[in-house]
Amino acid sequence: MSGTTPLQSPPEVAAGDLSDRLGRPLHDLRISVTDRCNFRCTYCMPADLFGEDYAFLPRSEVLTFEEVERLTRLFVALGVRKVRITGGEPLLRRDLPELINRLSQIDGVDDLTLTTNGFLLAEHAENLAGAGLDRVTVSLDSLDRETFQRMSGRNADLARVLAGIDAAAEAGLTPIKINCVVERGVNDAQVVDLARHFRGTGHVLRFIEFMDVGTRNGWDLTQVVSAREILDSIDAEAPLEPVSANYRGEVAQRYAYRDGSGEIGIISSVSQPFCGDCHRARLSADGRLVTCLFAAGGRDLKKPLREGASDAELLEILRGTWQRRTDRYSEERAELTPTSGRVRPKIEMYQIGG
Ligand code: GTP
Ligand code: 5AD
Ligand code: SF4
Ligand code: SF4
Repeated sequence: MSGTTPLQSPPEVAAGDLSDRLGRPLHDLRISVTDRCNFRCTYCMPADLFGEDYAFLPRSEVLTFEEVERLTRLFVALGVRKVRITGGEPLLRRDLPELINRLSQIDGVDDLTLTTNGFLLAEHAENLAGAGLDRVTVSLDSLDRETFQRMSGRNADLARVLAGIDAAAEAGLTPIKINCVVERGVNDAQVVDLARHFRGTGHVLRFIEFMDVGTRNGWDLTQVVSAREILDSIDAEAPLEPVSANYRGEVAQRYAYRDGSGEIGIISSVSQPFCGDCHRARLSADGRLVTCLFAAGGRDLKKPLREGASDAELLEILRGTWQRRTDRYSEERAELTPTSGRVRPKIEMYQIGG
């Protein structure tokens, strides 16, 4: 009967023993709870390709909360300590606080967080905090209304996102992180503005180099503004100094303002790939285990799950998939130094939420 009984007590499996082919342990789990989104960011779901009638996943294909909880318990038994809820836009998933509540009660989940576009955050922040969410990360590419809408789609409402950030702070979902994707010629002129706005607020603004995720954003190396350029432009106005990572394998490199007014982060996956320390697994909304942001697909977990696999059988699948993992896409891209994204099948950003 173990097929339907979630694992009650985790580490029966010696978590520390599990590592992939490149010696990397499993530590973070990013769970996408929907592939839908109310925004249409040009680099993720361009509006001309994702119209009103776009066929997103039917509900029957999306994992239920029970299924997500069961899988999360198994991942925790294998070493996962940090869980991030993503989408599409996760706040579109009905009754999300119920899932948060279930996950927050799992022994071993030390950090439970969520990445959102912020549009619905003001109305949900308190419930999410009440359900046990620790903190949030909000995507925000510009403080200029026009640029913001150009990047995130016509429904993107800057004032609502800013109100969402305030509500999250009030609800104690801190430290709040703000993610900004920088695209040359689009929002790079506003990097310093953003830094100025969030300096001294306690929120951690992080700039992400524009990446060749998915196949639909027409990525080209010339559109990437490097971490160095971003840092230099902020440092010229407000001097910065590097700070050591909060934990091994932290994606963002941290920099503090020398005057003590806070910190920023830089995610430089194009100019300085960090695959060597990548310990993140991703679970897509339809139950695929994806071992790299740039993978072509993933190991289907929904099928065995719905066919009655036992916890031991599922654990074997998770363990085996991780042990066979060799992904190091960003490093390989850097080694090849292409001038444009190679045409090869890749999972889309909205299917795994970054
Ligand atoms: P913290 O827990 O706050 O440190 O956040 P995080 O950096 O683990 O997660 P977050 O979702 O904020 O990551 C920010 C962005 O960095 C993501 O949206 C991705 O765009 C990118 N990113 C995260 N993980 C990876 C990764 O493994 N590989 C690459 N190439 N990019 C990643
Ligand atoms: N390059 C860098 N970051 C991206 N994101 C989405 N697509 C890309 C891309 N091509 C970011 C979003 C959000 C997170 C989920 O990933 O802005 O912060
Ligand atoms: Fe939606 Fe996030 Fe994709 Fe933008 S990047 S379209 S907010 S899922
Ligand atoms: Fe990890 Fe793949 Fe990103 Fe490299 S490219 S850091 S292996 S998710």
